[in-house]
Amino acid sequence: MSESALPVTCAITGASGAAYAVRLLELLNSIHIPVSLIVSETGWRLLQEELDINGEQALRERTGDWSSVTLYSDRDRGATPASGSAPSRGMVICPCSMGTLARVAQGTTRSLIERAADVVLKERRKLILVPRETPYSLIHLENMTRLTHAGALILPASPGFYNRPASIADLIDFVVGRVLAHLDLATNVGPRWKSGGTG
Ligand SMILES: Cc1cc2nc3c(=O)[nH]c(=O)nc-3n(C[C@H](O)[C@H](O)[C@H](O)COP(=O)(O)O)c2cc1C
Repeated sequence: MSESALPVTCAITGASGAAYAVRLLELLNSIHIPVSLIVSETGWRLLQEELDINGEQALRERTGDWSSVTLYSDRDRGATPASGSAPSRGMVICPCSMGTLARVAQGTTRSLIERAADVVLKERRKLILVPRETPYSLIHLENMTRLTHAGALILPASPGFYNRPASIADLIDFVVGRVLAHLDLATNVGPRWKSGGTG
């Protein structure tokens, strides 16, 4: 399978910032990257509460061409993303709740999202987590450290302001652009390096 045909597993969990997930999916769809999509129960709730997206059909309508998207139930722990032998470019959990982050960090996986993340780590593939919480407790920080030691990338939903964002869309694109860059996917969104930009 060519690199560009490898699917990205894209998980949406119950942290604030559903707009990051919607934009990420929209951009992946615009470049026709195959996406294995999993949304936790609370992820669906946040899509509803923050963006009035009340289920699969509404999510489709907001995220472009779904011809490369396969949606899996988070309860189906036997679905393709749970298998290490299924080819994959890696996985993004965006946004990532502290609950999911903790369960992945401890290896106590129960949902498909958690199992898929566990598999990505054991197969030494790319795992990007986009947490949204503030402030962090010691437990959160230790879990993030543990995941970093295990090979995951913690990419917090922390947009920079050095590129003078003019809108919420610019702030969202800052974070999503960083995610795509770490997936080695080139798009025109997100920060461009300028003197004074830091990350
Ligand atoms: C409206 C709402 C907002 C929430 N925001 C956050 C958040 O920003 N960060 C976080 O870690 N958890 C947040 N939570 C808590 C998680 O949703 C909760 O821990 C949930 O069990 C996570 O489940 P999941 O990881 O399976 O999606 C929020 C919950 C609700 C209902």
